[in-house]
Amino acid sequence: MVDQRTDWLGIATPDDLAIGLRGVDYLPDLKITTATYLALALEKPLLLEGDAGVGKTELALALSRLFESDLIRLQCYEGIDATQAVYDWDYAKQLLHLRATEAAGLGADRSALEAELYEDRFLVERPLLRSLGYTDPKHPPILLIDELDRADDEFEAFLLELLSTFEITIPELGTRSAVVRPIVILTSNRTRDLHDALKRRCLYLWVNHPGFAREVEIIRLRAPEAGERLTEQIAALVQELREQGLVKPPGIAEAIDWAKALARLMATEVTPEWLEMTLGAVIKYREDEERLGALGPSTLLKRAFARLGE
Ligand SMILES: Nc1ncnc2c1ncn2[C@@H]1O[C@H](COP(=O)(O)OP(=O)(O)O)[C@@H](O)[C@H]1O
Ligand SMILES: [Mg+2]
Repeated sequence: MVDQRTDWLGIATPDDLAIGLRGVDYLPDLKITTATYLALALEKPLLLEGDAGVGKTELALALSRLFESDLIRLQCYEGIDATQAVYDWDYAKQLLHLRATEAAGLGADRSALEAELYEDRFLVERPLLRSLGYTDPKHPPILLIDELDRADDEFEAFLLELLSTFEITIPELGTRSAVVRPIVILTSNRTRDLHDALKRRCLYLWVNHPGFAREVEIIRLRAPEAGERLTEQIAALVQELREQGLVKPPGIAEAIDWAKALARLMATEVTPEWLEMTLGAVIKYREDEERLGALGPSTLLKRAFARLGE
């Protein structure tokens, strides 16, 4: 077959995809690579669940860099509805049109005037509708539906329909369907469970925190100013911190921030003093800070550095 999405995108194998993603500064593991490859090859939405800061949102951004595609982002929140997600009418513009028509004395035919108010030019496209308007298969848009767990059930049900048909009906204008389907990435921090029906439409991946080696690589890439020893120590420390049963275990973003902070302070290694002074780059809850305080910075460092054979 020649019209497969993966052919258009020049991604013949999962390996191609892994290399491509690295080229745009995203270091995937084998599971992320495989799931993403399959989502592309089978043209299915990819649902990513996992703790905050494990690289879910960043994967969508990386795909848009890789394919030089538009990123269309729908940030979900409680109470989000169709007028924010799909389309709305530009009320102010409609009103002006109405006034102008009346002022010019052209408003005699009432029903014609009403119909005019629902023409394309008064339509405000929101992310979901916008994602259906693309035609170039080499650069399909990336539709990122971020933090879907924050939206409510009704919105999820609506989404389910969209993800099966890639069609949206606007009563006044008719049905719009995608010529080129968007690449859909959904993310959830799992503050609630999503419905099975939605999951059935998607390929699913639970995203773990990276292992030590990949985290070192990511820090090198994103905070190259940190020295090698510092980078390895930080990676070992965040790995250790994630096993401490904290309220908010640090994500990759925190590891990167911490490396940048310490490099900025000209630190070349993590000492108990540096740890105490810069903990705010990684630990964001008072309870967690107290817990680590009780453990003691030296003990924490000792445990973490045992991972490095130090
Ligand atoms: N695999 C990765 N390769 C490179 N950087 C990454 C990777 N995963 C995460 N990051 C970095 O960590 C940050 C946080 O990731 P993000 O995607 O926002 O987390 P999530 O959406 O899962 O909460 C990103 O901005 C990026 O800098
Ligand atoms: Mg995110």
